[in-house]
Amino acid sequence: MTISAIRSTSDPVDCRPAAVAVDAPLHGDDFANRIRSLIRAGDEHASPFRMIGQSLEWRQVLKKATQVASTDTTVFLQGESGTGKEVIARFVHRESPRKNGPFVAINCAALPEQLFESELFGYERGAFTGAQQMKAGQIELASGGVLFLDEVSEISPMVQAKLLRVLQEREFRRLGGTRLIKANVRVVAASNRDLQQAVADGRFREDLFYRLQVFDIRIPPLRERRTDVPLLADGFLQEFARTTGCASAGLTPDALAVLLGHEWPGNVRELHNALERAAILCEGGLITAEHLSLQVSRIVTPRRAPRLSDVERRTIEQVLRETDGNKSRAARRLGITRTQLYGRLRKYGLAPA
Ligand SMILES: Nc1ncnc2c1ncn2[C@@H]1O[C@H](COP(=O)(O)OP(=O)(O)O)[C@@H](O)[C@H]1O
Ligand SMILES: [Mg+2]
Repeated sequence: MTISAIRSTSDPVDCRPAAVAVDAPLHGDDFANRIRSLIRAGDEHASPFRMIGQSLEWRQVLKKATQVASTDTTVFLQGESGTGKEVIARFVHRESPRKNGPFVAINCAALPEQLFESELFGYERGAFTGAQQMKAGQIELASGGVLFLDEVSEISPMVQAKLLRVLQEREFRRLGGTRLIKANVRVVAASNRDLQQAVADGRFREDLFYRLQVFDIRIPPLRERRTDVPLLADGFLQEFARTTGCASAGLTPDALAVLLGHEWPGNVRELHNALERAAILCEGGLITAEHLSLQVSRIVTPRRAPRLSDVERRTIEQVLRETDGNKSRAARRLGITRTQLYGRLRKYGLAPA
């Protein structure tokens, strides 16, 4: 039985060849050296694992992923669809002591409950009508490696209880079986939903939440790290030229402005797909704004460093959003006094009239 929800390392890897471009160290020389060696490893064309990004936000993601990779700790990746959760999950596997073991990805939302349960845990012969032979589940197939549980918020309560046992006791039974089997897997889980909210709504077990949430990494949406857009675009265009023969002569300034101004609700995946389409339409010439057919929600002038005041205003706006408009907390986060914050709000016309 082949089920599209499940993929293992033998399948084509959906990761871009990587340019882990990290210019400034985030934390000490060791980390900087580590990242530099990743850049070298990723620079080789043969590498199917290309991770592109230079923004502070992306480097923070890489930093946390690097820190946790060498352990056997459960990792939880939270981020919108298309932000690179699977890219990071594969990175954690690749950089972990389990790198020679399998990487098994299973989409928890793609299958009805019973099918999902038997895929995950396997079944014994005769467990149900049609179970003519024993079948190992994905937990067994991932033995010695990493089990990537994508869209983990969608797991049903019954399977949540069983999964909790796997994480707690490190053992499970096949469906219809009595024998306990050791679960030798490291779990990396991902969700584009707010798992805490799912707990608050009573849809997700709190104890499982804490088991998964041991080490969490939030992957910011692309619109929060727009400086990565030109780098990603460049990397993808090179990739298309190499793999599909769709070489383009580059982007016009208009096209770049469109890329920088788009909100990217589908994140890196949307960028990848938009450029793939454009690379075909441009027939070897320059990619123009028309080839991209994207909506621009704000106008950004490319190739100009942002003015300091723009950056300051945007930062203040963002922190206020994150603190639900609470000025004291926002001021603390920004490292300024409330009075200074009010001064800036007036300066940028953000203060209530
Ligand atoms: N930093 C990155 N560098 C290169 N490609 C990326 C990066 N992040 C995501 N991608 C690509 O974008 C697409 C979506 O990434 P994926 O990890 O599947 O997202 P998610 O699992 O969050 O939905 C994939 O084709 C992936 O290779
Ligand atoms: Mg995904």
